[in-house]
Amino acid sequence: MIFVGAQLAAPGLGANANHAGNCSVPKNYLEAAVEITQEAGKILVEELSRPPDIRYKGDEVDLVTQADKRSERFIVERLTKYFPDHAIAAEEGTGHESASASEFRWHVDPLDGTTNFAHGYPCFCVSIALAQRDTLLAAVVFNPFYNELFTAARGEGATFNGKKIHVSKVATLSTSLLCTGFPVRNRKASPNLQFYGDFTQHSHGVRRDGSAALDLACVAAGRFDAFWEFGLQKWDTAAGVLLIEEAGGKVSDFAGNPYQLGGPVILATNGLIHEEMRAMALEISRRSQGPAPP
Ligand code: IPD
Ligand code: CA
Ligand code: CA
Repeated sequence: MIFVGAQLAAPGLGANANHAGNCSVPKNYLEAAVEITQEAGKILVEELSRPPDIRYKGDEVDLVTQADKRSERFIVERLTKYFPDHAIAAEEGTGHESASASEFRWHVDPLDGTTNFAHGYPCFCVSIALAQRDTLLAAVVFNPFYNELFTAARGEGATFNGKKIHVSKVATLSTSLLCTGFPVRNRKASPNLQFYGDFTQHSHGVRRDGSAALDLACVAAGRFDAFWEFGLQKWDTAAGVLLIEEAGGKVSDFAGNPYQLGGPVILATNGLIHEEMRAMALEISRRSQGPAPP
């Protein structure tokens, strides 16, 4: 088993908590998450070489494939084996509440970037994070195609393939590279095209890579200077938020309030351009609401 990241320092996060079964016992939560994420990544790479089996959740473009389901089945089974008392919130619905009302909850996106995956565009990942009540403790984002592993443990920093990472030092919006995403449901109701256009005019550009978890990991690693998106779910953002916080960045909503997992909008930046982006986002919101009624 590969060990990535330091031992978690917080109380109660010592070695071998709540492990069960005969398979090798992970040293801590982060190590368990790394092991499970890498195994799930192997499933995704294996599935990528098969003809895609695409289904639709709802009547828009919310895709699901055999790969999402296989990856999730594996992750939930392994997490349950290691941590039978923990709750699991997983996108495809196979997670569970804990038998003993655990304060620990895993947020699992078994395949983030399903649309990319379904088209053979290798920008997708597995994203897993552990929270104790509202505090994120451990996070892993893994792109198995490029073997890119991002990890974070609260108070211990963030890493990319074992090396410490830090957000970028770009200090102005006009010289920044940004990223955003668009919803797969209620697409016509999304206000994001306006934001996309305006931020494009005021920066070096806005990328749309199609995997929110990887997009956030890229902010943590300094590849992007900021990311925003409306309507993301807890499993899309949980790992990325801890990665960015541990890499020295900032995460909030457009009003500057701390971002709550599953909140209506996330703004994640290197910290240096946070206020400039926020001011512009508020200005775009005001403009797109039109003139005040007489
Ligand atoms: C999607 C991706 C995408 C984002 C969508 C998400 P999925 O997740 O993260 O980048 O724009 O809002 O739903 O469906 O590929 O897990
Ligand atoms: Ca997914
Ligand atoms: Ca997702």
